[in-house]
Amino acid sequence: MKKIFALLLCVAMLAVCFIGCAETTPDDGNKDNPADTTVGDDTTAGDDTTAGNEDEPSAKVFKMGTNAAFPPYEFKEGDKFVGIDVEIATAIAEKLGGTLEVVDMEFDSIITAVQQGEVDFGMAGMTVTDERLLEVDFTSSYATGVQSVIVLEDSDIATLDDLAGKKIGVQLGTTGDIHASDDYGAENVTKYGKGADAVIALKGGDVNAVIIDNEPAKAFVAENEGLKILDTDYAIEDYAIAVKKDNTQLLDDINEALEALTEDGTIDAIIAKFIKAE
Ligand code: ARG
Repeated sequence: MKKIFALLLCVAMLAVCFIGCAETTPDDGNKDNPADTTVGDDTTAGDDTTAGNEDEPSAKVFKMGTNAAFPPYEFKEGDKFVGIDVEIATAIAEKLGGTLEVVDMEFDSIITAVQQGEVDFGMAGMTVTDERLLEVDFTSSYATGVQSVIVLEDSDIATLDDLAGKKIGVQLGTTGDIHASDDYGAENVTKYGKGADAVIALKGGDVNAVIIDNEPAKAFVAENEGLKILDTDYAIEDYAIAVKKDNTQLLDDINEALEALTEDGTIDAIIAKFIKAE
């Protein structure tokens, strides 16, 4: 019963609509002038758009190219990008009157993305190296990294010398990759897209050691049972932000922001938040 009623109501409403439309159409046709007014309104809308353009210039969005698989510098919490680099970059973007957008990619794509202007800068716990300095400029350094060696807890590898002839896992394109390949032979090095994948390979016995930066190493060992970090400082490195070679304005701006954020204690506070003093 209710259904029939509803149907009837619909039909009635449709009919009203039809009649209404039929009536207004000739009306509209008669009223040419009001139609012109509508055009006039459109013009006004155009003016509005112009007014929109006169609004304050929209804040610059700084695109940061990174590889968010490198805790505590950049990683994901759910859908959110977090970490030391993300927070420092956010503070820099704010200092420069803008906001930050994180663009996540493979680590070994970051420099190209910077060179091609797909991102404004690259920040990824990235070490300053002579080779990279040929491709991009680096800001002042904001942190130090140390290459570390992760092995299984019961491993017979105790020193760097013991790595000779062993299978080593690294993250593709990182300084860990470069050092391991140079020092222990590329044939002994397996490259993974993420440090975490190298760690899985270590646990699965596919490699005997992983060479990676100390803070991610600590994070991976904390997350996984049965691993330890060798007591060695394989290589000590400076982390900095990569900027396109001819973009000296941005390089200067970031350096100025970094200096201010160092002086007022922001950088230290951010690092302390993610790296607990031992
Ligand atoms: N510091 C090393 C390098 O520059 C590793 C950096 C890896 N960073 C990352 N977000 N995955 O090569």
